[in-house]
Amino acid sequence: MLLSVVQTVLIPWLVPLALLSSPRPSLAFSIGAGVFGNGDGEDNDSDDDDDSGYAYYSQAGDTVPTTSIIDVLSANESYSHLLLTLQKSDLVDYVNELANVTFLAPVNAAFEKHEIPIGSTLSKDELNRFIVDDVVFREEVSGIRIVSTLNHHGSPYIEGFQIPLLLDHRFDETDDNKEIYLVENARVLGEDQYIPTIDTVVLTIDDLLTDPKETVCRYFQDSLNRNTGAERFKTFSSLLLSESTCKAQRMSNMTFLTPSDASIHLNHVERKYLSHIRGLDDKNLFISNFLVDGIIGGNLGNGSVTASNWNNEKLTFTSSYLGDEIIINNKIRSTTSNFLLSDGIIHYFEDTIFDYNDTKKFPLFTLRKYLIGLDYEDFVDEIDFRKLSDLIDDNSLHQTVLVSSDYRMMGSLKNGMLYHFLEGDDKISLQKFENGLLTTKYCVDTDMGSTFCQKIKLETSPSGERTLNSNSKILNTRPYKVGNSSIYIIDDDISLPSKLQTAIASELTGYGKSTEFLKKFNYSKKLSKDNSFYTLFLPATDLWNALDLTLDYLIENPVLLQEILDNLVLKGVLYHDFEGTQEFETYGNSKVEISKDDSSSDVLNVNNSTNLTISFDSQILYSNGVIHPIDDDIPLPQGMRISNLDLLSAQDSTEFEKILDVLNLTSVLDSTKGYSVMLPSSKSLLQENITYTMGDLTFLEKFAKLHILPPGSLDMILDCSSANSLPSSSYLHVDYRNSTTSSDIPTMMNGTHLTCRELASGGMMLSLTEGSGNEVRVLRHGIAIDNTTITSGLLLLDRPLNPLWMNNSDGKLYLHLPLFAILVGILIGVVCVLMTCGCCLVLTFGSSKKIVDGIEHERYMDDGGRIEHVISVTETMPLLNDNDNDNNNTDNKKSSDNNKKNNGVNGGTGKNTTSYMIDRTNGQGQNSSSRVLGRSLGRDSPSLENKGREVGRRYSTFDARYSMNASASPIDVNSSII
Ligand SMILES: *[C@@H]1O[C@H](CO)[C@@H](O)[C@H](O)[C@H]1NC(C)=O
Ligand SMILES: *[C@@H]1O[C@H](CO)[C@@H](O)[C@H](O)[C@H]1NC(C)=O
Ligand SMILES: *[C@@H]1O[C@H](CO)[C@@H](O)[C@H](O)[C@H]1NC(C)=O
Repeated sequence: MLLSVVQTVLIPWLVPLALLSSPRPSLAFSIGAGVFGNGDGEDNDSDDDDDSGYAYYSQAGDTVPTTSIIDVLSANESYSHLLLTLQKSDLVDYVNELANVTFLAPVNAAFEKHEIPIGSTLSKDELNRFIVDDVVFREEVSGIRIVSTLNHHGSPYIEGFQIPLLLDHRFDETDDNKEIYLVENARVLGEDQYIPTIDTVVLTIDDLLTDPKETVCRYFQDSLNRNTGAERFKTFSSLLLSESTCKAQRMSNMTFLTPSDASIHLNHVERKYLSHIRGLDDKNLFISNFLVDGIIGGNLGNGSVTASNWNNEKLTFTSSYLGDEIIINNKIRSTTSNFLLSDGIIHYFEDTIFDYNDTKKFPLFTLRKYLIGLDYEDFVDEIDFRKLSDLIDDNSLHQTVLVSSDYRMMGSLKNGMLYHFLEGDDKISLQKFENGLLTTKYCVDTDMGSTFCQKIKLETSPSGERTLNSNSKILNTRPYKVGNSSIYIIDDDISLPSKLQTAIASELTGYGKSTEFLKKFNYSKKLSKDNSFYTLFLPATDLWNALDLTLDYLIENPVLLQEILDNLVLKGVLYHDFEGTQEFETYGNSKVEISKDDSSSDVLNVNNSTNLTISFDSQILYSNGVIHPIDDDIPLPQGMRISNLDLLSAQDSTEFEKILDVLNLTSVLDSTKGYSVMLPSSKSLLQENITYTMGDLTFLEKFAKLHILPPGSLDMILDCSSANSLPSSSYLHVDYRNSTTSSDIPTMMNGTHLTCRELASGGMMLSLTEGSGNEVRVLRHGIAIDNTTITSGLLLLDRPLNPLWMNNSDGKLYLHLPLFAILVGILIGVVCVLMTCGCCLVLTFGSSKKIVDGIEHERYMDDGGRIEHVISVTETMPLLNDNDNDNNNTDNKKSSDNNKKNNGVNGGTGKNTTSYMIDRTNGQGQNSSSRVLGRSLGRDSPSLENKGREVGRRYSTFDARYSMNASASPIDVNSSII
């Protein structure tokens, strides 16, 4: 009977075996007999069946009654390899003593398949794995049955735990009801050989069971670094292993409802948290759901098994396909079942087994847990230390937190911590929110009764990169989200905005003068006091320098300068996104009305007059508010007055003032009238002998009028040089700039104009249009401050414009002719007197002097009338407004139309886990090759291809457990971000 089965099943092997092994039986026989003889002699008294054993070896086995397992083995040459091994291993007596068991006897071919040399030895433990501790008749096995072997060393923790063994007996309906009987990877050949005397069944198997089933901990440990085929459960494995949970809990004699990585719904942050020592409780809560005590598997029949998992939740186990599929709670079907370990059993599930949202069974993730999972324990500790724990434990809070991998700057203050939390739902990722200010949770009640929350400046580059406070880059495009909170990682820590002095010192090179003044008047301290918040306009140094003489005057009168500085500070915070119209109070307690069209506009209108250009980029956040550097105008206090006289008095002007005094012309210094003055220094006047004492009033008057400009003239002169003050002028060709001239600038002197010429060096020269080519240089200028629209002020000249330079050939010649004629006459007269010794010298001189006085007096009156006329004209004609406001602000901030990149796809999710996936076919290939090498036994069965789903699936690539080539870290950080 045995032979017939061997023939049908072992057809491929039978013929070659018979041919190759023809000399072997005798060899084996002789060796076997010799060994047996020795062994038996020692144990002679303990075994009654020894004689029959011997009898078998006399080649008359068929007639001898079989009373022991050895008898059965000896009766067939197919077991010679096994027998020899038992002999070599000194286990014959042990086998002979067995009773009430099922003995699995591999045929010779099984040893050959694994290239195990004849005469190799076997330990008792190994042999015991071939012996089922019960008598199993195949009729009693329907589908899968898990039995236990005589190997009692299955568990490192439980004394005497028997290694389980899987039997599978069924009839293949798809193949003529062919019987299939498997013992794990081996096929049972022939019938059950029952030995009634010892109540034992011997089963012939065609393969060895050399698979050393690993213990639970060992198996999960190895599964991290090994190809587990299509079944991937590294997350579960790593959780079992982290903090040595598996060992610490002495996991043994257990059933594992192993969830696939995909079904477990944990992102890498959550996984890391659960693996963290601080997540130990949550981890235990988590995995306990999947752990059931005892070995539950195989065909559970029509009934069900109810068992509790480690969270004391009742689970119902049922099976289908004769035990090939395990079903939990009548709903969740296993993908792979009954994978045996030496002290446990694994059922693998790709469907979600539990409701992960049930916070009784599964941990509720909070900001704290996420921060721990992201390795920011220090941050968490700091928050706890600052008694801000609620911020990270309360899942109902809508907030965004910014954490840095760099804790150098980690503010040791509570405020510094609060500065890392943003109020409200995640604003950073809002599509439109490219540049803007984020409101932090660091808020202060201000002196003015409102609440001020510090801001963080968010800038988005055209490439989509986001930067905070111009310093810290945001590293994750999409935030980690937990509860209602979002987490952003930044590359450098953000610290609270610095004090005023640091804020302006660190950033601005073009604003040194403002910085200097603020320092001089101690604003650094004044504007950094707690609980008061300000907006500071910081004029560029160029703007101060443009004041020129006026600035000199201000520096000499610090009260006025401070008044201006006070006016640059608004109480309250006005950010770039200000919108509408609002009245502010300055630091000097005067009211200013500020308006701005819309939040994105850059133009700030002050008191409906001055326009200031601010920008999002340039605004600087500091500890007590915001600083706006400005480049277009210095907003001056409305009430401030600095007249020409003021400006004049600060200069070397005594001589000139006295001349005006003598001529009674000081009224022109009242700047409200719009006159401007060109001032030659006293020194230069003295050098040219023009003093108030010279007595020649006519000359002095002409001199004075040449130096007084009617309203409008100053603008023309400044215009002449204005090209120079524009940045673009430096690009003009030198020749062109040389030719920049303008003429016909009126003076007070009737009919006399000035021509202005700008030098390539930037200097400005003035000459009389109606005169010789003599030029004077304008050294400096100053503008009077008043609230009129007429520009008036002071120009400083290197030397006076001399009335003598005026052309005598112009229309006013007649006015000068008499004087000239008289002088010539005087000379002629003197000569005549000297030559003729005439006595009428005195008479002639006296009469001519009277005539001169009369004419001079008339002319004076005449010109007085003209002055009135000029004034009346200027009052009605459109005046040249100050062109300063037209300065084109080409430095408008970069428009905020940075095309933000669509960050729809998070880089993190793009990666997948293929790195440790090896598909099913590969796994099987490796498995079979390892079998050829004889390193191990896979549990795949030969010729299972047509067994259909019910049988085949159990032996899936789960068994590819010996291919060591695959590797992946327990927690693949890249594998799944959110
Ligand atoms: C086998 O079982 C029988 C009956 O249950 C028992 O009497 C006998 O002692 C057992 N033998 C061994 C070796 O366990
Ligand atoms: C294994 O666990 C089951 C169920 O808890 C228990 O009944 C059985 O005694 C355990 N086996 C051993 C050897 O401890
Ligand atoms: C669990 O919660 C998430 C998010 O709130 C939801 O998308 C998911 O459907 C929930 N799952 C179950 C099983 O309720």
